[in-house]
Amino acid sequence: MTAVGKQIREAILATGPISIAQYMQLSLTSPVGGYYTHGQVFGRTGDFVTSPEISQMFGEIMAIWYILHWEMMGRPTKTRFVELGPGRGTLMDDMLRAAKRFPQFFATIQGVEFVERSPELRRVQMEKLGCPKESMESVKDKNEPDTPGSAVSERYGGISVRWHTQLEEVSVESDCVPMVMAHEFFDALPIYKFEKGTSGWSEVLVDVDDSTTTPAPPQTTSARLAGSPHSSASDNSSECHFKFVRSRSVTSNAAVILRDPRFDSRFDKGDHVEVSAESARVMAVLADWVSQNNGLALIVDYGQDWTQGDTFRGIRKHKFANPLSQPGSMDLTADVDFSYLRLAAQGKAKCFGPVEQGKFLLDMGIQARLKQLLQATTDKKVQQDLVDCYKRLTDPNSMGRIYKVLAVLPNGAQGMPIPFAPPSKEELNRPKVEKIVRK
Ligand SMILES: C[S@@+](CC[C@H](N)C(=O)[O-])C[C@H]1O[C@@H](n2cnc3c(N)ncnc32)[C@H](O)[C@@H]1O
Repeated sequence: MTAVGKQIREAILATGPISIAQYMQLSLTSPVGGYYTHGQVFGRTGDFVTSPEISQMFGEIMAIWYILHWEMMGRPTKTRFVELGPGRGTLMDDMLRAAKRFPQFFATIQGVEFVERSPELRRVQMEKLGCPKESMESVKDKNEPDTPGSAVSERYGGISVRWHTQLEEVSVESDCVPMVMAHEFFDALPIYKFEKGTSGWSEVLVDVDDSTTTPAPPQTTSARLAGSPHSSASDNSSECHFKFVRSRSVTSNAAVILRDPRFDSRFDKGDHVEVSAESARVMAVLADWVSQNNGLALIVDYGQDWTQGDTFRGIRKHKFANPLSQPGSMDLTADVDFSYLRLAAQGKAKCFGPVEQGKFLLDMGIQARLKQLLQATTDKKVQQDLVDCYKRLTDPNSMGRIYKVLAVLPNGAQGMPIPFAPPSKEELNRPKVEKIVRK
């Protein structure tokens, strides 16, 4: 059993079944071998590939979005990039490289603020942005993941790079505009899961399983592996020491989280809902933070604009895996409920969207960038790869539809961000909360 598996088993044996949220949190971020403490888990040779790891075009287009808004804001003299869950730092690297081509904007960048829990990934991010090796000590202490670190990026003109464990720690100068990015961050935050029974909701919990049978993984969706050549395969071969159980009575989580009227009468017996209370908490902080600091934010992730029921899954080596097997050895994720994020931001900041990633990238000019890159090479293989990556990012059957973009502007902001449009009549008439789509 993995080290984190042992930790989870001991916790359950001591206090009883735990919530899926606790299981996810320990599996992903426990200092004793949580998945994200391993460092190099992304990319073509890792367990999964994210949009910035697919193509530089993704980060370049995101940079253009911030630069256009900087222009619209009257070219403020100080800006700062803030990224939640930067992974390998590829997105920030691509954004900074693109920003360098706009010297007047680039000169305003005071620094980069990374919100990252994994000390190993902090080290990878530091290397990616060309910070000197001597700075590694400040970010790599495994036993002190809460110790913030800082460095200077030699590659990007000596701008400062600082690490934090949560957005609340990030402070910016009053005359500086923070530009926030959260790419595939919310899908990694813990979810709770509930099942509607005849006499109300029970919670789906994780218990130890000392029987020999391995439970089948729950139904999965194709997000995160969208467009991957291996997306149809499912790895269920690993040994499994845990199982899902239902609470006999209403848990305190169910009582508190499902108090929201959206979980009332619209659900039938047997329906499931997944709720990320942590996402709502972080989103409320982010919305307040954006408004207080007069910043702007983009949230890009896979998910829907409504509550879902069975999207919790494991991903290992580009295949779906049973999330209850070998915790710490695979990514655990669930689709994002954008409607829940918007609700959490209500009254604190203005949200726009979500729009589908394919539409966002096309409206922002990804085709023109593809053309430039194609013209810059005569290598047919490189050209084909560029076209394949472009299709993977934008095609509705690949990542173009399931991935979505939500923009957040301060409460007092005037006008619409680009390329968001006012809601159509149909969207306005749509019920505010939709029923889940699947059991
Ligand atoms: C799925 S990865 C996405 C990485 C990157 N944004 C990309 O798209 O390639 C999630 C990232 O969020 C970080 N992360 C997960 N939970 C976190 C938390 N509670 N606080 C801060 N960072 C977290 C992980 O360490 C990792 O860097």
